[in-house]
Amino acid sequence: MPVPEFSPDLLGRLRAARSIVVFTGAGVSQESGIPTFRDALSGLWTQFDPMVLATPEAFEADPALVWGWYEWRRGLVLRCRPNPAHHAIAQLQHHVPELLVVTQNVDDLHERAGSRDVIHLHGSLHAPRCHHCGAPWPVPETMPEEPQEGRRLDPPACRHCGGPVRPGVVWFGESLPQQAWLLALERAARCDLLFSIGTSSVVQPAAQLPMRARAAGACIVQVNPEPTGLESPHHDLRGPAGTLMPALLDAAWP
Ligand code: OAD
Repeated sequence: MPVPEFSPDLLGRLRAARSIVVFTGAGVSQESGIPTFRDALSGLWTQFDPMVLATPEAFEADPALVWGWYEWRRGLVLRCRPNPAHHAIAQLQHHVPELLVVTQNVDDLHERAGSRDVIHLHGSLHAPRCHHCGAPWPVPETMPEEPQEGRRLDPPACRHCGGPVRPGVVWFGESLPQQAWLLALERAARCDLLFSIGTSSVVQPAAQLPMRARAAGACIVQVNPEPTGLESPHHDLRGPAGTLMPALLDAAWP
């Protein structure tokens, strides 16, 4: 993709921003090799039924199916690396006094790229907990074997109460982690500029974040090759985040 010309308005607002929120979705990790959810061919929710994999009822009905699927995904993530979009977002924090990454992603690629302030609205693949008592379960940093799609795996038993350990992600029908959501709302309401990167902006309540920022006067910048549920951002950068984000930083701070 040829390097685009960025508008002087965008570059000026970016350089002048004192507080930035970077709101990300699965598309920011796509160039690392992690599938998105809604891609027409490779999307996870195109290939797998979320109702049998991503609800508390599904876990209770078939824990080995659900635990095995999330362990497959955790193994994929452990074998992937941050891409130029994650690195550019981490670089951006050195140009503004305050920057918060608010991700819907359950991978840890923002942190591995060096972003310091990251909150996970939909939990993490790397923070399982007991389904009964909520005690955290420490996962090993490495996968013992090649991840296999479709492999059933019994979840470990909680060391405190013996209950089944569940993935630390937010499932359909569950609330967002309250503290993370309140912090995201607070920062969206007082940021100067919000990036919405690699998200289809269809999953609520997370998709409200850019609207909150816009209502409070922030400049909204979308980075995505496709149109999304986010209406009329001030700047709509069409293309892959791994190309556009490094190019934007180079243009703003040559
Ligand atoms: P989606 O799969 O809904 O959307 C991914 C977006 O990334 C799409 O808009 C793509 O066009 C865009 N995209 C693809 N490649 C890209 C690239 N290289 N650069 C930039 N953008 C790219 O994923 P999310 O919006 O993250 O929730 O989905 C939101 C939530 O739905 C997820 O957190 C998950 C899912 O159900 C839970 O698991 C609770």
